[in-house]
Formats: sequence, structure tokens, C-alpha cells
Amino acid sequence: MTINPEKSIPAFYAGQSILLTGATGFLGKVFVEKVLRSCPDVSEIFMLMRPRKGLSVNQRLENSLDLPLYEKLRNERPESFKKLIPISGDAKEKGLGLSASDRQMLIERVTIVVHGAASVRFNNSLQFAIFTNTRSTRDVCILAQSMKNLIALVYVSTAFAHINEPLIEEKPYVPIANWQEMIDIAEKLDEHTLNIFTAKCLGYAPNTYIFSKNLSEGIIHDYSSSLPCAIIRPSIVTPALKEPIPGWLDNIYGPIGLFIGGGKGLIRVACCTKSVNQNAVPVDIVIKAILVTAWKLGLTKFTPNSTLFILNCTNQKHLTYQDGIKLLFSIIKEVPLEKTVWIPNTILTDNFAVFYVLTILLHILPAVLIDLFLSVSGRRPMLLGLMRKLYVANHAVSYFSFHEWNYSEINRLNLMLLISPDDWDAFSFNYGFSDISDYCKHSVIGGKRFVLHEDMNRLDIAHAHRKRVYWFVTILETTIFIVILWIIYNYISAS
Ligand SMILES: NC(=O)c1ccc[n+]([C@@H]2O[C@H](COP(=O)([O-])OP(=O)(O)OC[C@H]3O[C@@H](n4cnc5c(N)ncnc54)[C@H](OP(=O)(O)O)[C@@H]3O)[C@@H](O)[C@H]2O)c1
Repeated sequence: MTINPEKSIPAFYAGQSILLTGATGFLGKVFVEKVLRSCPDVSEIFMLMRPRKGLSVNQRLENSLDLPLYEKLRNERPESFKKLIPISGDAKEKGLGLSASDRQMLIERVTIVVHGAASVRFNNSLQFAIFTNTRSTRDVCILAQSMKNLIALVYVSTAFAHINEPLIEEKPYVPIANWQEMIDIAEKLDEHTLNIFTAKCLGYAPNTYIFSKNLSEGIIHDYSSSLPCAIIRPSIVTPALKEPIPGWLDNIYGPIGLFIGGGKGLIRVACCTKSVNQNAVPVDIVIKAILVTAWKLGLTKFTPNSTLFILNCTNQKHLTYQDGIKLLFSIIKEVPLEKTVWIPNTILTDNFAVFYVLTILLHILPAVLIDLFLSVSGRRPMLLGLMRKLYVANHAVSYFSFHEWNYSEINRLNLMLLISPDDWDAFSFNYGFSDISDYCKHSVIGGKRFVLHEDMNRLDIAHAHRKRVYWFVTILETTIFIVILWIIYNYISAS
């Protein structure tokens, strides 16, 4: 009996041939796992990847499949990995760096495109960001136009692409600049010359990443008259809520960096507005939203008058930075990170002067002293370099931790209504009901296991180390306090 694809999302994906860009990234890996697990009859997934660090695309894929993320599939259905076809390419290159034969194969076979490849660094040069993020989006659209059986193209944008708007609706906005002109300029001028014009070009975008994503949405909008397109705008993507492993993550990004650095006792001051809500969304929720969007798009008959479907994929649970950090520190007491360097406690401030003074006192001075100690004892000093990186990262994300935006969620609610009850469990991307403390606890455990590679069986050791650090810090601080009092006393008695 054939199942109606309108009623069943897995039935829709049966026989589909997907092209995924950004397949080796945080979202890409979760996407691949989810499709293979929940849509077992998918025909194939072409993964556009670049060879890197001396590894070919095949080797990169093989290494990636060893991750704990794929454990369930490895045990239950290892043959499904045969559906993964790595394609060598480079989003930064014109035409995506594809060989003629690969291009032809994609044209013949692909039915669904998910374009997620991007450099997510905020401080790339304008030329690099335009080539990797903006021109690649145009080139994906050009390729998609020649695909013989395309039914859906989903572009993964960002919820922060239009931050000049206080309320971000699920509709296209006029881009900051003309994307064709910007690509032309980036191709004609050299990188250094373009750097001089960057501040002028960016307009309201706080960095080149946001600018490049803003222009990319403009590209998708322009191509949407000839292609069945959709745009998904996730906010900051955080560890998995549920699938395939609660708390799964593989990078330190946004609030996760703050939490891990704070939990280790490394980040002792951060610049943000305590009352601002972190606009974050779990990675598995974003992936389900992408799959459901492609399903809806694929079932809708495309005409040049079809409207571009846009979905804001933002937080459904509210948690301010202040409450988030409090929650983290209560979890860290129960599940401490190993080798903490100080008692975890991060001061949040939105006052730059206070931030700079505290950075010198709590980050730079101790780092200089510890590095000095390391050098004298013949070891490699590293803390000052790390503090510099943390400072740059804090600075880069501070714009987003000072501001809050409102998002319309009409399309999300309407899309949810289309999902049949049989698919709710596997594809619903509603998570408003979930318990935030539970989620944060799984995220801390995820950070420990998958990013810091700490063993959960060594919790006793981590607790014991934490206790030692506590006593060391308490004795040190008390001694410093007494010495200061003694100096003041002597000074007053002498005068
Ligand atoms: N993470 C978030 O919080 C967040 C929030 C909103 C939107 N997004 C969007 O979601 C998408 C995926 O983000 P992510 O978090 O998964 O980022 P990620 O972990 O940094 O992954 C980025 C992916 O893009 C690929 N890529 C970068 N430059 C490339 C190039 N020149 N050629 C080919 N592939 C290239 C990377 O490949 P390599 O492995 O070779 O580097 C990787 O697969 C991006 O479009 C991003 O803008 C992410």
C-alpha cells in the first residue's frame, strides 16, 4: 500500500535525492542523521564538502560517521550510510568549485536542495564573506535552475539578518545593498581595498557575516520567481533537545561558549545585558523545521507567482542571560566540568568601563601571573592568548547580547498544523512545553562529553578537583584581603 506523502513526511522523502551544502557543520551533521533515521527510504544525500587539512572528502565523511551522533544508526542501520555521497566542492569558489561531471550528476538527480554552507565567523573580510556566503547562494540558485527534477530549495539564513527591524516578520525585506553589485565589487577589487570600504558597505549590519546573509536572502527572493524556494531563519542554534542524543553539540558557539568558559572558571566577567533573553533554538528543532518546510514546498505546485515561504525559527522558551548563568552555575555544582581553574562565577555587566576594569583584574592579571609561573617552570604559557581569544569572542557577540528582537511566528504555527498526528513525534518542531532546566542540564553534559571529551564516569574526580579549587581560591582571596588590610593599617599608623 502506498502512503500519501501529504499525510506522511517519511513517505514524501521516499525516493528523494537531496543536495546538502554545509554537511560537515553542526547543523549539517544533525540533518544527515535525522534524514537517514526518520526518512529511511530517502534515495541519497549528496554532501557538498571541501577537502580539508590533508583529508579528502571521502576521508572526512568516514571520520564524521565515527561520531557518537551516528551511534544509533551505526548499530541499527549501518547500510544507510551508503546513501551518503560526498561531492568535492568549495562554496568560496565561483560555481561552487564543482567538477563538470559532478555538476551534471546533480542536475540529473537532485530533487531537494538544502543550502547551509557558510562561514559563520563574524570577522571575516568582506570579500571572503561575500564569496563564501553570498556568491555561493547565487551559484546554488544557478545550479538549482538547471536541475531537472527540483521540487524544493531551502536556504538556511539567520534570525539576525534584518536587525534594523524591531519586529521581524516572516516576509522578505529589502537587502542592505544590491547583491549583484556587491558580488561584482568583491570580484573586481582586491581584499585590502575592499577592507577600506567595509564599514561604509555594511550599513546597519554589525559585521560581515550578517551583511552577507542579508544579501543572500535578497538572492533567494529574486530567484523565487523561477525556483520553489524557502528561507529558514534560525536564531542562535544550541545543543539538541532530544534527537538523536539530548545535549548533542559539536562546537562552542554563542551562549555555549559563555557557559563552558564560565563553568571552567575561565570567563569571570562578560559584557551583556542581564535582562536580555537569549534567542536560542535547539539544533534538532531547526532540522525538523527544515525538513517540514521542504515537505510543504515539495507538495505545493510551483508557479512564478508562488510566494516565497519564510520561517522564523527562534526561541519558544524565554531565558535571560542572568537566569541562564544562574541556572548554569547550579547545574555545574551537580555536574562539574573537569580541571576548573577557578570557582565558577561570571559577573555580567552592560557597563563597558566596569567590563574593561574587571577584564584587567579578573582575566588579564591572573593570566599574566599564571603564564609567568608556567614559563618559569619550563611549560608553555597559554592563558594570556586564550584570554585574548575570549575577549575578541565576547566583543563579537556582545551586539546580540545587548539587543532583543521580536519575531512573528505565524508561519511556524500554520506549518505545525499541517503535520499529521502520526508524524508529530518525529517532526514537530514545537518545544514550548519542554523543561528548560532539564534542557540546560543535558546541554552541560553534552558540552562535557562531546566538546570537552570528558568522561561522565569521572564525576567524582571533577567534584574533588572543584573542592580543592574552592579551598585554594578561598585561602588565596582571604590572604590577599588580609595583606591589603595590613598594608592599609601600616600606612594609617605611619602617617
Ligand atoms: N550555528 C548557529 O547558531 C546558526 C544560527 C543561525 C543560522 N545559522 C546558519 O546555519 C548554517 C550552518 O551553520 P552551522 O552552525 O552548521 O555552521 P558550522 O558548524 O560552522 O558549519 C558550516 C558548514 O559550512 C561549510 N563551509 C564553510 N565554508 C565552506 C566552503 N568554502 N566550501 C564548502 N563548505 C563550506 C563548513 O565546511 P567545513 O567543515 O569544510 O568548514 C561546514 O560544513 C549557516 O548557513 C549559518 O549561517 C547557524
